[in-house]
Amino acid sequence: MSTLLVTGGAGFIGSNFVHYVVEHTNHRVAVLDKMTYASSRSSLEGLPSERLELVVGDIADVDLVGELVASSDAVVHYAAETHNDNSLLDPSPFVQTNLLGTYTLLEAARSHGTRFHHISTDEVYGDLPLDDPSKFTADTPYNPSSPYSSTKAGSDLLVRAWVRSFGLEATISNCSNNYGPRQHVEKFIPRQITNVIDGVRPRLYGKGENVRDWIHADDHSSAVLSILERGRTGETYLIGADGEKNNKEVIRAILTEMGQDSDAYDHVADRPGHDLRYAIDASKLRDELGWTPEFTDFEAGLRDTIRWYRENEAWWREQKALAEAKYATTGH
Ligand code: NAD
Ligand code: TYD
Repeated sequence: MSTLLVTGGAGFIGSNFVHYVVEHTNHRVAVLDKMTYASSRSSLEGLPSERLELVVGDIADVDLVGELVASSDAVVHYAAETHNDNSLLDPSPFVQTNLLGTYTLLEAARSHGTRFHHISTDEVYGDLPLDDPSKFTADTPYNPSSPYSSTKAGSDLLVRAWVRSFGLEATISNCSNNYGPRQHVEKFIPRQITNVIDGVRPRLYGKGENVRDWIHADDHSSAVLSILERGRTGETYLIGADGEKNNKEVIRAILTEMGQDSDAYDHVADRPGHDLRYAIDASKLRDELGWTPEFTDFEAGLRDTIRWYRENEAWWREQKALAEAKYATTGH
């Protein structure tokens, strides 16, 4: 049994990873999380205390990070500021956490010789044309569009440099858009599900033709575990499950699944710099590590996710009012 230090483990994907690790392995988990607006203590509720410790703190806190890394066998680094729309309103926490926070963790991992896995996004590659079959691979040049994706790109490059210059035993994964339980209601899918629950029409940016490559958070977790266990040092693995859909299709699927007219949504102003299309070629992960996704039926995964939001209103109700108040300032 080993101890994993999971940063950002009280956020959406991090908490789903912690649940996955507790269920599928015998590792112990220490979560380091600053408990920002995007986190929730209740996302970690019900997990056995002998397997999980929650440390509230900042990944840019050199002393705390040094102490935690020293007592861990591996770091799995999820913590980040993650919402594109927020990064357009105020980029500063993105620079602080995504760049300086990652740097602080890398320095601690270097001084203790600790295995490091860096969680990143396909958004570092910029976007693809809509009418084109091409997909991102690990060789696609970096071309990020937003303060969010550019700070994630910078953090990936720091990891690569720490591998090459200092021999850090690190891997990187760049995953496509996740959906599933415990995602903050500022994000597209939970925002629209909770709007429909509240009797509010879903809101589509621009024409709604932008394409995202959806993957269930549990499939992201199983991929990260494969990389942690069998990935080659210094390598980048792209994680995706061939789930391309445009935003209009997703909204219509949510409305239909929730018993509403599939046209009962509104178009609102487009996001500045809105990336057109993301699509992942995950053949390296599949061929080299033998990974396959479990959630291949998007409608079924969406149905489970809608049920989760219906059954866990206490989890999201307070966040919803705050998120919508912020959107009201931008007309979104
Ligand atoms: P999230 O916003 O739901 O959660 C982020 C977590 O990090 C929160 O619990 C927050 O409190 C914590 N955090 C933020 N700043 C911190 C700091 N300075 N110190 C310690 N903790 C801090 O994010 P998410 O959607 O779960 O994304 C997690 C990771 O996965 C991110 O690195 C993101 O770039 C990456 N990713 C996300 C997606 C997606 O679809 N959401 C896709 C690919 C990759
Ligand atoms: P989002 O969940 O913010 O993820 P990302 O920007 O990382 O892809 O948005 C997903 C897509 O949905 C993106 O194309 C923007 C769009 N979108 C809407 O159309 N309406 C909304 O209310 C939100 C939040 C997003």
